[in-house]
Amino acid sequence: MAPEWVAWARTPNHDAFWAHRASLLAFVGRGHGEALDVGCGEGRVSRVLQAGSADEYKVASVGNLPFADDTFDLAIAYNVLMDIEDVPTALREIGRVLRPSGILVISIVHPFADRGRFVGPEPDAPFVIHNSYFGRERFEGVEERNGLQMHFAGWSQPLESYMLALEGAGFAISALREPIPDASEAWTHMERWRRIPLFLWLKARPVPGLENAAFFAVIGNLQHPRAN
Ligand SMILES: C[S@@+](CC[C@H](N)C(=O)[O-])C[C@H]1O[C@@H](n2cnc3c(N)ncnc32)[C@H](O)[C@@H]1O
Repeated sequence: MAPEWVAWARTPNHDAFWAHRASLLAFVGRGHGEALDVGCGEGRVSRVLQAGSADEYKVASVGNLPFADDTFDLAIAYNVLMDIEDVPTALREIGRVLRPSGILVISIVHPFADRGRFVGPEPDAPFVIHNSYFGRERFEGVEERNGLQMHFAGWSQPLESYMLALEGAGFAISALREPIPDASEAWTHMERWRRIPLFLWLKARPVPGLENAAFFAVIGNLQHPRAN
């Protein structure tokens, strides 16, 4: 684990994650069974959700998880999918290790937020999108704040790309949130993000046969051509 990520993630009230902690707990809720924290980083999501550390850590690629089919009741991928080049394969693999009754919780940087920038730090600063919202783009950058530095890299893509990957992996979205950061004094620098959504949270459930739905829709059109 990169030391800069550990410092960034763990310094109190530094990373935006902590301004959404209470909302995340409310969104995920309480449950029983086995949970998988995909791309767990230094482990803060597991610590927050379980009020303790994870029971076990494994190093593996999300495209080839070292677990049997139908193992987990909950999988959470918190700000991980943007880092992954092949999201459709990752979601199919997560679907494989999730029980049919299981639930997948996803957080991504909101695809809309990813494509624009605030022109200044003020709470009412305009948010500007210079290029297109659509298309897939590689991003790489460095963020610096309060003496800490973090290198970020990943892929920015529109919401529809995530939806297509979920559909292809047989998942249907059952809940969607655009969480707003806490309004406490510690988060005054995030005031702008109370106007524009920074994160997008989803719950998705496996639906048998959903991965073939697009195919059936095409066949349906062929069998029932529109009358001229
Ligand atoms: C931005 S960090 C988020 C960490 C953690 N979920 C959190 O919110 O604190 C992204 C994590 O995804 C992991 N990751 C990126 N690509 C991956 C891949 N192909 N397979 C498995 N993990 C991956 C990275 O190692 C890193 O731990």
